[in-house]
Amino acid sequence: MLLRDQKTIGNFKRINITTSKQMAVDLLLGLQWGDEGKGKIVDVLTKDYDIIARFQGGPNAGHTLEFDGIKHVLHTIPSGIFHKEAKNIVGNGVVIDPVIFQKELENLASFKIDFKSKLLISRKAHLILPTHRLLDAASEAAKGKAKIGSTLKGIGPTYMDKTGRNGMRVGDLEMSDWKKKYRALADKHQSMVGFYNVDIQYDLEELETAFFAAVDKLKALTFIDSEQYLYEAQKAGKKILAEGAQGSLLDIDFGTYPFVTSSNTTAAGACTGLGIAPNQIGRVLGIFKAYTTRVGSGPFPTELFDNDGETMGRVGNEFGATTGRARRCGWIDVVALKYAITINGVTELMMMKADVLSGFKTVKICNSYQYKGATISHFPYNVEPKNVRPNYIEMPGWEQDLTKMLDVTQLPENLMNYIIYLEEVLEVPIKIVSVGPDRTQTIYR
Ligand code: GDP
Ligand code: IMO
Ligand code: MG
Repeated sequence: MLLRDQKTIGNFKRINITTSKQMAVDLLLGLQWGDEGKGKIVDVLTKDYDIIARFQGGPNAGHTLEFDGIKHVLHTIPSGIFHKEAKNIVGNGVVIDPVIFQKELENLASFKIDFKSKLLISRKAHLILPTHRLLDAASEAAKGKAKIGSTLKGIGPTYMDKTGRNGMRVGDLEMSDWKKKYRALADKHQSMVGFYNVDIQYDLEELETAFFAAVDKLKALTFIDSEQYLYEAQKAGKKILAEGAQGSLLDIDFGTYPFVTSSNTTAAGACTGLGIAPNQIGRVLGIFKAYTTRVGSGPFPTELFDNDGETMGRVGNEFGATTGRARRCGWIDVVALKYAITINGVTELMMMKADVLSGFKTVKICNSYQYKGATISHFPYNVEPKNVRPNYIEMPGWEQDLTKMLDVTQLPENLMNYIIYLEEVLEVPIKIVSVGPDRTQTIYR
């Protein structure tokens, strides 16, 4: 708000302008290839926030949170939904599949959440049509071995329609002619599926019946101009946390292209995906696992194909929360983490799943790459195995079970050495160490 103090001086009016203060927006972002534990930490942090807002991605995300012995997986709904007071916003940068959204709502039915007042959806968010999912499937099938390993939720085709200026948005559902627009787009998609020349079996009528029923449910929720809502909330001093989906190495610009998702998963994505001005970003919380995982195709320099990788996957229960696929596992990669920290402007770190590394005699940290005959410490353009070989340092591991530890003073010395080493090389403090999937298994430093 501008406060004007006008004084007339001669023929001129002098206007003194004071800008009123706005509350900064904090971001929580994954620094690896997704599944870092964003859902758990957003749930843990929601008590300190008034609003949790998703800014990109869609039902390709699977955010797990656990409390009172129950595990929940959210795909489109922000991870603050279980808290009494917090508002949860699905921002303009998100893509929404009404069918999946409806299922998420049904899964939460027993919690008696007042969705109408607590869950607010941007009119500018784009809709995933059934035919977007068919296009995703056809594109992947046509790629064969070179497939991205997409979650097949229609993410890529929906963002393509957004940037191609053909998409349908939530706000369109408030117009009387939305079905006409839908039909034209779906028909076009259907003929595009034909161009791929692959065998995709589907019953469009059945898919559309489910879609239209789900749209009716979606329309019962509250649609807002979320950028305006968030601006007013900031002015009113509300605390806002933007919840990222996927991870920095899946970013459409900075990730391991083309094996990426179709949105900006990095800090800049929160600005465009919510309408937050860059100078209104506050803390940037970067979250990473004590090791590395990736699901789907694409290069992964520290990937392990041995017993150590198998142990990480088994102990860490590394199966995709959305697709159930086994996640590939490997040691922590400081080169990739530094790259993500720089691009995002991370101000503090959270290290997840430290408990999974208990029992390893030694733990390895990749802190440089062999790249075309030289040692480099930046994340290069070509990270495929034929170009990049990781260099490791090795540190003594820890035996203790961490899952019942409540305080930083209980953490084993060798784990503390691991944490302190990482803080030194990453040049950002690690503020939270997570030692289990439950809300309570969270240690603050
Ligand atoms: P997100 O996509 O970043 O929200 O992460 P996911 O939910 O896809 O994957 C993280 C998995 O690790 C989930 O199954 C969580 O319940 C689990 N998890 C989160 N933090 C911890 C932790 O500190 N230790 C263990 N063992 N599991 C954790
Ligand atoms: P959360 O938010 C891990 C991966 C897919 C695939 C690539 C492209 O739970 O961390 P897409 O469906 O977007 O076209 O898939 O990105 N991927 C994820 N991997 N966590 C996610 O989300 C992911 N969302 C997409 O496996 O390799
Ligand atoms: Mg996930």
